[in-house]
Amino acid sequence: MKRLYGGLAALLASATVVAQCDLPSSYNWTSSDALAQPKSGWIALKDFSAVPYNDKHLVYASTVDSGGSYGSMNFDLFSNFSDMGLAAQNGMSTGTVAPTVFYFRPKDIWVIATQWGATPFFYLTSNDPTKADGWSSAEPLYSGDIDSDVGPIDQTLIADDTNMYLFFAGDNGNIYRASMPLEDFPGDFGTSADTIMTDDRNNLFEAVQVYTLQGLNKYLMIVEAIGSQGRYFRSFTADSLDGDWTPQAATESNPFAGKANSGATWTNDISHGDLIRTAADETFPVDPCNLQLLYQGKDPNSDGGGDYNKLPWRPGLLTLAQ
Ligand SMILES: *[C@@H]1O[C@H](CO)[C@@H](O)[C@H](O)[C@H]1NC(C)=O
Ligand SMILES: *[C@@H]1O[C@H](CO)[C@@H](O)[C@H](O)[C@H]1NC(C)=O
Repeated sequence: MKRLYGGLAALLASATVVAQCDLPSSYNWTSSDALAQPKSGWIALKDFSAVPYNDKHLVYASTVDSGGSYGSMNFDLFSNFSDMGLAAQNGMSTGTVAPTVFYFRPKDIWVIATQWGATPFFYLTSNDPTKADGWSSAEPLYSGDIDSDVGPIDQTLIADDTNMYLFFAGDNGNIYRASMPLEDFPGDFGTSADTIMTDDRNNLFEAVQVYTLQGLNKYLMIVEAIGSQGRYFRSFTADSLDGDWTPQAATESNPFAGKANSGATWTNDISHGDLIRTAADETFPVDPCNLQLLYQGKDPNSDGGGDYNKLPWRPGLLTLAQ
């Protein structure tokens, strides 16, 4: 009997360990209200990159000033997104627009990848990512050109066991990918990238993010699209980072996240942000059982005086409804 019970307990324990959520075919979120207002001098907080740090949240973002010029910032660490609005906002002397923040475990170094420097993409490193001005000088990350008015835009990075991958967009209906051996990172991806996805401009616009789905042997990509009712995210999955991406929830009426399923009342747009990761490392892991998206939204009645760069973006948090 004892033996039987032990076997049963082991079975239950292993069942607990392997129990895993697949991605829903249809997402349904609940949303926070706007979580923070920009401090004096800024009109928008946008393009969020969030990592866990000492059991708290570390968030970097782009800023926009009243003249429509971009910069960047971080928030002081906070424990709960409900307290994000209380966290001090720290401007950076090096603008890291549309930042991608992570911890590169093989070399025990923090990395911010970003855009619009001496090269289209560049990176900075640090030993203390909580310090907004504790970063190294800029190093080139990618210097290729693409057929687009804006050039390469909205980089993200992710590694498997052997390679580091760079994914980016172009506001032109393409998603691009480059790679290098893991041991060469941090480093320069050079000037050439593969075009791995092509669609109408609005369907593959910008803000691509790629994550490891914990427990599923799969990767998740989200890409921001322009819809009839605002910005929304489409999702894709792949079995490997150098593989093909299959649409998952990829229409405006059944999106990964958008007006159709966000539950948000303060914004129609679900735009550039980051899934809440379970670790800060280069694999960008997310837990499919507990998906949350830190996004940028805005008051639908504000049109920025007709200037995209003056729209009043604010952070919001989506949590997948159970
Ligand atoms: C964060 O705060 C919200 C609202 O007060 C609360 O419902 C939630 O449980 C908190 N989350 C954590 C992880 O403490
Ligand atoms: C979405 O989740 C909310 C909150 O849990 C629930 O009230 C609503 O019925 C759900 N909608 C769908 C379509 O499942």
